[in-house]
Amino acid sequence: TTSRPHIVTCTAPVNIAVVKYWGKRDEDLILPISSSLSVTLHQDQLKTTTTVAISTSFKVDRMWLNGKEEDITHPRLQSCLREIRRLARKRRNDGEPDSTESTGLSHKVHICSVNNFPTAAGLASSAAGFACLVYSLAQAFGVEGDLSGIARQGSGSACRSMYGGFVQWIMGNRDDGKDSIAQQVEPESHWPELRILVLVASAKRKPIGSTSGMQTSVQTSVLLKHRAESVVPHRMDKMIKAVQKRDFAAFAEITMKDSNQFHATCLDTYPPIFYLNSVSQQIIHLVHRYNGHYRESRVAYSFDAGPNAVIFTLQQHVPEFVRVVQHFFPPDTNGEDFIKGLPVKGAAIS
Ligand code: PMV
Repeated sequence: TTSRPHIVTCTAPVNIAVVKYWGKRDEDLILPISSSLSVTLHQDQLKTTTTVAISTSFKVDRMWLNGKEEDITHPRLQSCLREIRRLARKRRNDGEPDSTESTGLSHKVHICSVNNFPTAAGLASSAAGFACLVYSLAQAFGVEGDLSGIARQGSGSACRSMYGGFVQWIMGNRDDGKDSIAQQVEPESHWPELRILVLVASAKRKPIGSTSGMQTSVQTSVLLKHRAESVVPHRMDKMIKAVQKRDFAAFAEITMKDSNQFHATCLDTYPPIFYLNSVSQQIIHLVHRYNGHYRESRVAYSFDAGPNAVIFTLQQHVPEFVRVVQHFFPPDTNGEDFIKGLPVKGAAIS
């Protein structure tokens, strides 16, 4: 048996949903009212890096995020810690080669996590964060297998960051959540021409977090109910086919419609939730004018719980679209309302 390290460091990238998750049917287990599908970014771009240390000298579990100590009693953090320790214990009881003695199941952990992008600005920081936390804890405690069900209990969207490429989160229908897991649809290598640009309209923390936003939406929005029951199931099928066929026009159209419907359910929520700002709206118009000019969808936008745009396009269109963005949002304008481009996959904006 190999002895496991007492300190492990892992990174996990952000994922961007193209069929969005919005609304839970179970708050504690984090079970969604519909399935969702996302694209996981490259490891070296928007990512979380987490170091987990296990030691006999630690008295309590502790956690730091971007250098600031967080409340370890946070229920979702506790769920992840509890589930990983439970799996580690099960593994030992099942008679797996015992290396847990050295890593110490009963020992306390210190967790240190940093994001290389703004936290809670609607850039899926919790997805990368909890995926990374679960993965590094699993490494430290010697746990293997599908861990997306545990990451899900940290933050729903985190389950999709456990895999690269194109990933679906199947909603499942069990009450215990065992079938609510992430699955890779295609690996990243399936569509090498696909590019993602992030246009940062604002790096401020979002005014309404996804947890409370979803709760109010589930309670008040009839559009959300319709979306979950009648729109998303069909859209998931179409999106999976578009990805499998590398049909960018279909991919782009579903992506934009789904982002728009998500924000429409936010407006249909009472009191309404606004995540988009005037810059986001300008980007939406710009993309439609650009696509209209070519009479084909060459670029797609998507917005999560914040005003920042995620742009999907193909490699050959990046230079021109970047010039168009720079023309309308000059990089030398430093006001809050102007876009800073964050290059993803080698595309430079500023
Ligand atoms: O996992 P959460 O609670 O951060 O929710 C994420 C919700 C969206 O980002 C808006 C959509 C999605 O599917 O990622």
